[in-house]
Amino acid sequence: MKTLKNWAFGLCLCGTVGLLGVSFSACGAQGGNAGADAADSVAASDKNAVIETIMARRSIRKYTDQPVEREKLEQILECGINAPSGMNQQPWQVRVVDDAEYINGITEVYKKANPEAAGESGFKNMFRNAPAVIFIGSPANGGGQFDCGLLGENMALAAQSLGLGTCFLGGPVRFMLDNEECAPYVERLQFPEGYTLLYALAVGYPDESPEAKPRDASKAKFVE
Ligand SMILES: Cc1cc2nc3c(=O)[nH]c(=O)nc-3n(C[C@H](O)[C@H](O)[C@H](O)COP(=O)(O)O)c2cc1C
Repeated sequence: MKTLKNWAFGLCLCGTVGLLGVSFSACGAQGGNAGADAADSVAASDKNAVIETIMARRSIRKYTDQPVEREKLEQILECGINAPSGMNQQPWQVRVVDDAEYINGITEVYKKANPEAAGESGFKNMFRNAPAVIFIGSPANGGGQFDCGLLGENMALAAQSLGLGTCFLGGPVRFMLDNEECAPYVERLQFPEGYTLLYALAVGYPDESPEAKPRDASKAKFVE
């Protein structure tokens, strides 16, 4: 097995993953011969909008107070639900919350349980300080999580392409599910019977530009 030594493969891999989210680019405009495009994009990666978007995305944990336009949130949702899913079952429920009363109200519960977190500099809310949060629900029997992940990455990349930052959130969702005082807020998401909250995606205008965290290229290899 040959370890991948250069980032060109990383780009190729990203290009392939990116092509899974063709509908994301359809939110902009791209189509045609996807396979050929992927190959070309390795050579001309610095001109490929999908690859640039993938490589530029970072988890953002500081946001400006600027609200996210509903049009942009709608576009992000559209890209999300155009993700592939097994047998096109679309095993997800997606809820957008940009209501400060909701976000600040549940953050009060969080602050009560985690006073030290609330004291961190720049702390605005429990969703990594974002003004909007997208909650993703999946079947309570544990199915659909792969599909929900694809939906989320489509949304994160769409947001990135629209000048927005995102952060996937597992910790705050665990808190919401474990803390009884959060129950009314989970209820307000109105997931249908048989669905449970899986994760959330913070969305907002970034107020930081973090460096990429290191990636272990040895985890992706060619089989010779
Ligand atoms: C399933 C999942 C759960 C995550 N949960 C959290 C979280 O609760 N809080 C947080 O700050 N970041 C969370 N992250 C973000 C990761 O820490 C981040 O993606 C990782 O460190 C790589 O950094 P990057 O996104 O900037 O490339 C989560 C990411 C994923 C995919």
